[in-house]
Amino acid sequence: MGKGSGYGKVILFGEHFVVHGVAGIVSAIDSSTDAIVSKGESGLVVKDDRKTAKGYSEEKRLQQIESIERMLKAMDLDPKLPLDIWIGGSLPGFSGLGASAASSVAIARAINEEFGLNLSNEKINQVAYEAEIAYAGNPSGIDNTAATYGGLMWFKKDSTGGPDLVERLKIQMPIEIVICSTGKVANTKAMVEGVAERKKANPAKYEPLFSQAGDLTVAGRSALEAGKLEKVGELMNENHRILQEIGVSSVELDYLVDVARKQGAIGAKLTGGGGGGCMVALTPGKDLQEKVANAFRAEGLEVLATKIGVIAR
Ligand code: MEV
Repeated sequence: MGKGSGYGKVILFGEHFVVHGVAGIVSAIDSSTDAIVSKGESGLVVKDDRKTAKGYSEEKRLQQIESIERMLKAMDLDPKLPLDIWIGGSLPGFSGLGASAASSVAIARAINEEFGLNLSNEKINQVAYEAEIAYAGNPSGIDNTAATYGGLMWFKKDSTGGPDLVERLKIQMPIEIVICSTGKVANTKAMVEGVAERKKANPAKYEPLFSQAGDLTVAGRSALEAGKLEKVGELMNENHRILQEIGVSSVELDYLVDVARKQGAIGAKLTGGGGGGCMVALTPGKDLQEKVANAFRAEGLEVLATKIGVIAR
């Protein structure tokens, strides 16, 4: 029996743009997916005990099977190897929180232990990237990197296929955030493809937006490192506006962003692939965090009140 786990994450700046070589900023959160893997008798048996948004497991089922086969191949194992896999842990299966990457890292680590492969974290990250192809089509690698290493990081995909630029970011102290789920499952692959198609069809509109997104990530890094949280919030709001313009927000996400801001969040945006999934609000201090979280809870919505800039391997 092998065990493993992977962190969930929120993207503060740059989702979608990061697929096309723009830098992004991501933070792991203190919720993770755990996996237990044992050699099986016949075929692949996956028991998924995660708390999920309605329909999440069913929607992701085929992508999950493909992701596991891809990982086995990347580990030089037979993709049809019979395995019994259990998945659970504190990270809910909500779109936008890197749940697929966290589960892939957890499963890769558990397979590594069960088969005594002795893989480095770097290799686990590469294997999880292979799995992300099943979920996101053309992933940037930001989710699996956060799921593997944790912490707060700057991430820039190398568009020539070379190693991505990953830098740890230091902030003065962890910052409270509120994550709220729309309850809607989103198909990351379809969202990523949609952006690529629209960008290709309308470069005059999309190129300037991509360049603005890059500027926002740079400004977001400076503001985070200098502890200028009001500025970070302002830039997150601006990032949400650009995400609306590239067509990845939704009525539900815009509503959550609006509620968070009205309750005093200093910034709020969709996080992850959009089209459903989750919103993240910057709510420094316990009191503000509770106020914003409670407003969502009062509407019966699923909330995670956590911090950015905490954990790292
Ligand atoms: C998903 O969490 C983030 C996306 O940018 C896809 C990716 O970077 O792989 C939408």
